[in-house]
Amino acid sequence: MVDLTSVVLGAGLTLIVVAIHYAKGTGWEPAADISQDVLEQRAAAVPETDFPEPMNRSIGGGAAGAIPSGEGGAELEEGEESEEEEGFDPESIPEDEVEYYEVEFAKEGETIEIANNENILDVGEEEGWDLPYACRQGQCVSCAGQIQDGPALDYIQHEHNEALFDDDMEDGYCLTCVAYPVDDFTLETGEQP
Ligand code: FES
Repeated sequence: MVDLTSVVLGAGLTLIVVAIHYAKGTGWEPAADISQDVLEQRAAAVPETDFPEPMNRSIGGGAAGAIPSGEGGAELEEGEESEEEEGFDPESIPEDEVEYYEVEFAKEGETIEIANNENILDVGEEEGWDLPYACRQGQCVSCAGQIQDGPALDYIQHEHNEALFDDDMEDGYCLTCVAYPVDDFTLETGEQP
């Protein structure tokens, strides 16, 4: 015995499905994809750095972080100019004035000789140590270390420092990527102010 209600219900549902299938759309079109434009606008709004972005190391993490370039990169507050305004040029040291100093790397547990025209980060890396860095231009604090013996400038000079304040250097902090020894000292690598 055929259930008439079921037949009517089935036919009704079928008609509804067919009607929906042939119904015209509303004419709605998806909006154009503007994600690329938005990304480009955002990229244009972010200050660029003038050093290669690190691949697998974070920039900064300390007080200064990534430093924008542009207009001289105003990393130091007005009126807080570093003592080392110009830095120095290690290549200007004549051969007969090259001197070597004993630098103890406390965490690495070794003391090595570094010349006054060799930067500490380079020589440490030549030893095979995985020392932190990002810009290698004195513009962030990723490579910072702390000299245990006193104010940093008693033991090193910076070729270029745009990231450390005088107070930081008084506390013994230096940027190993641009620091050259002028005396023997003990260094704690991976220490940021
Ligand atoms: S790695 Fe950026 S200041 Fe040394």
